[in-house]
Amino acid sequence: MSTGCGAPVLSPADVPDPTGAPGDGWRPAPRRGDPLADVRVRPAGRGDLPGLVALVKRCSPDTLYRRFHGASGTPLQRELGRVAEPGTDHRSWVAVTGRCVRGTATLAWGRWGEVEVAFLVEDAWIRRGVGRALFRAVARAARRANLPDVVAWVQADNDRAVRFLRDVAPGAEVRFAGGGELKVTIPVPSPLASLAPLPPPASAPRRPAPAA
Ligand SMILES: CC(C)(COP(=O)(O)OP(=O)(O)OC[C@H]1O[C@@H](n2cnc3c(N)ncnc32)[C@H](O)[C@@H]1OP(=O)(O)O)[C@@H](O)C(=O)NCCC(=O)NCCS
Repeated sequence: MSTGCGAPVLSPADVPDPTGAPGDGWRPAPRRGDPLADVRVRPAGRGDLPGLVALVKRCSPDTLYRRFHGASGTPLQRELGRVAEPGTDHRSWVAVTGRCVRGTATLAWGRWGEVEVAFLVEDAWIRRGVGRALFRAVARAARRANLPDVVAWVQADNDRAVRFLRDVAPGAEVRFAGGGELKVTIPVPSPLASLAPLPPPASAPRRPAPAA
């Protein structure tokens, strides 16, 4: 279905979840005057590509630079295609109001074992809690995947993003990584991790085999 923002209307059930886990469709409890009352966060799917393209068109060059680090043209289109196409090594969420995509977040499993997270909220919707709502969906998925932490790469002068990440994840560790970038390591509190049985110490005596 074509819409005012070029995005289709999908229910969470329409969107495949590569982990096989139930969808993350999440709608904050509406409150009177709450700017998030109409915002819904759900996993991104193939049908979201037009909405993502429209989102990017509404973003300022600075906002796009903060998220895509200078990628434009074909590389940017490719990245949007990736956002809209969940895979075994990445999945994304969109924050939508009606038929418009207002923001998106992606969790991507890197080659070196690190799992990266990236956020984008359109200029007219920043500072309304959309980023936080997306973070909640990402954090839930990260917890389900039993990840100890996720990493965000942020330009060193992107104060807004650093403040945002510190705000949503008070335990976040920010380190200068060179090349004008900060590596923000965000711990994922996992109740499962604390319940996991500890491996026996290397020197522990072996349990004798049961007698035949
Ligand atoms: C960083 C980014 C994702 C934050 O998204 P956001 O939707 O503005 O995030 P939130 O609204 O949840 O929180 C941001 C601020 O708004 C405030 N806020 C949230 N809801 C609010 C409301 N209803 N009224 C007033 N302020 C509000 C938060 O307290 C926070 O305050 P702070 O700036 O003083 O820390 C967004 O600015 C963005 O997309 N930037 C460009 C891309 C980027 O930098 N990505 C990060 C690198 S991956």
